[in-house]
Amino acid sequence: MLNNQKIVFSGIQPSGNLHIGNYIGAISQWIEMQKKYNCIFCIVDYHAITVKQDPAILSKKIIEIAKIYIASGIDTQKSFIFKQSDISEHAELAWILNCASARINDLNKMTQFKDKAGQNNVSVGLYDYPVLMAADILLHETDFVPVGDDQVQHVELCRVLAKRFNNQFGQTFKIPELIIKKYGARIMGLDNPNIKMSKSAISPANYIAMTDKPEMAVKKIMRAVTDSGNEIKFDKINKPAISNLLVIYSLLSNQSIEHLEKIYINKNYSDFKKDLANVVSEFLKQFQKKYNNISDKEVENILEKSAKALKPKTDVVLKKVKEKIGVSL
Ligand code: TYM
Repeated sequence: MLNNQKIVFSGIQPSGNLHIGNYIGAISQWIEMQKKYNCIFCIVDYHAITVKQDPAILSKKIIEIAKIYIASGIDTQKSFIFKQSDISEHAELAWILNCASARINDLNKMTQFKDKAGQNNVSVGLYDYPVLMAADILLHETDFVPVGDDQVQHVELCRVLAKRFNNQFGQTFKIPELIIKKYGARIMGLDNPNIKMSKSAISPANYIAMTDKPEMAVKKIMRAVTDSGNEIKFDKINKPAISNLLVIYSLLSNQSIEHLEKIYINKNYSDFKKDLANVVSEFLKQFQKKYNNISDKEVENILEKSAKALKPKTDVVLKKVKEKIGVSL
């Protein structure tokens, strides 16, 4: 049950392969926050269908993401894990926000849409995706939204939409705050440190998936692109590849970047990568031991129970919104 602590809401799309970038940028923050707050973690399946999905794979991915949340350390006794499509108020509120607050000019500014759409004739849903994300956040009266760097613009838009609605219809929505990590908010690709690590990357050499075999992860680290020179130093401009590997090393081993720089002062890239490969492989082994012990049935029960527990509150919030816009008689 929700108590009177502040509310944290975040989500991940069940598409592609969830990777250590998602873990470091988003999930690791969630694990810390659940100690202090009411936490609601969503599997955003309606966001996933903004691009083409194979239905059989999508339903497997939903289960997989829930298992990843749990095996990463989300405590289902305390926090909620639910599937977006199980609470239809998300889609309903998105429609109301589309009409009452969101403007074409807002959506035209979204850089992620421009990157994803390119010149293709993409779905209307992909364009409208940030409004559904705003609905997710506002429906649960969220205080804090912990995300990676690529979602900052979307959370800012959510705040704009909420304030615009409140201005027109009177105080309705709580204005959420963005929570982002100082390091690790944008983990870059192992094959190219100038593009982010991405679930939808064409080459698997770009990312380390949470479900990659540890031996495979070792190979990917050893083959990761490095910079010229041989110094192991955090310098995002001149050493983007080593800086990215240092951030991964630091956050997965709980050692500061400064400490790592000192350890590797007289060592070369190969020594550094071997140790990092070991850290990543150990991290995956621990994680996968838990992951492999979670059954599909267990996950289905958790998703169902969470949606049931959250629904009464989302009903109340949507009812209030409907009254404000004049469709509730
Ligand atoms: P998604 O599924 O693309 O990504 C999930 C989370 O992982 C973060 N992330 C990264 N962090 C560090 N380095 C990276 N390379 C990296 N790649 C991804 C993302 O910033 C995100 O936090 N629209 C969202 C899901 C969403 C949501 C919401 C989030 C839907 N509704 C409401 C918060 C609140 C998305 O597509 O994330």
